[in-house]
Amino acid sequence: MKKICIVSGGSGGLGLAIAAHLLRSGKDVLILGRNNDKLNKAARALNRVAQKAQVSTLVCNVGNEADVRKTGKFLAEHNIVTEYLFNNAGRGLFSPAGASTTAMIDDVFEANLKGLILLTSEILRITPEKQELTIVNIMSSSALLGRDQETVYCASKWGARGYTEALRTELKGKKRNIIAVYPGGMKTDFYKVTGQDRDLTGFMDPKEVAEKIVNVVLHSDKLLVTDITISRKK
Ligand SMILES: NC(=O)c1ccc[n+]([C@@H]2O[C@H](COP(=O)([O-])OP(=O)(O)OC[C@H]3O[C@@H](n4cnc5c(N)ncnc54)[C@H](OP(=O)(O)O)[C@@H]3O)[C@@H](O)[C@H]2O)c1
Repeated sequence: MKKICIVSGGSGGLGLAIAAHLLRSGKDVLILGRNNDKLNKAARALNRVAQKAQVSTLVCNVGNEADVRKTGKFLAEHNIVTEYLFNNAGRGLFSPAGASTTAMIDDVFEANLKGLILLTSEILRITPEKQELTIVNIMSSSALLGRDQETVYCASKWGARGYTEALRTELKGKKRNIIAVYPGGMKTDFYKVTGQDRDLTGFMDPKEVAEKIVNVVLHSDKLLVTDITISRKK
């Protein structure tokens, strides 16, 4: 069986930076995203840093069960086993509490909560119990705080945190490691893709954040790190 790292939302921002750092560390990587052109563009950039490691792409909306099942089927058919799953795909839509709509709630929850749960569930289902699997859930400092204008986003990330904590309890004693990551603001297209204007001055470089995350995750074999909070220096 060939071992692989899966990065959801690997076609941009933090996910792309995580994928690049994994490849530089010699790990084969599969990136998931909803847009094939974006995935191909990311793969071309990743191939430039990959050296001997391999990059694959798959169109997968993590909030769509059929897409997630298709991803599981792809792994099984290619004899691939997941060593590290980075649940990174995320959406940020922000509004006053009185302006929440079904469309907005579905959009945010699809990637941040439902997608994280569906992809985790599928990978757990198909990964043999004897195979060590590390699941890294990228949440946000908004999973630890309640922020103004972020009710729906905070709800999705607090939900992801609740799921992560319960998952850790359920899988204790098994060959499954659950790592929770709580990053602060980063200079990515996160706000731009949803048409929101945000001053990113002072926000963190996603490459630096990715390097910290990947270094801890890949080198915590004997001492397991459970929670990583990364914030900018004041
Ligand atoms: N940027 C920040 O300030 C910040 C701060 C704290 C936490 N975070 C969290 O960090 C993670 C990465 O954010 P980012 O800043 O890198 O955002 P980004 O630049 O907007 O990248 C998000 C990635 O997720 C993918 N994606 C979105 N919805 C998806 C879905 N339903 N299924 C599969 N892929 C999906 C996007 O590609 P497609 O749109 O093509 O699918 C893209 O590759 C998110 O979970 C976010 O909540 C971000």
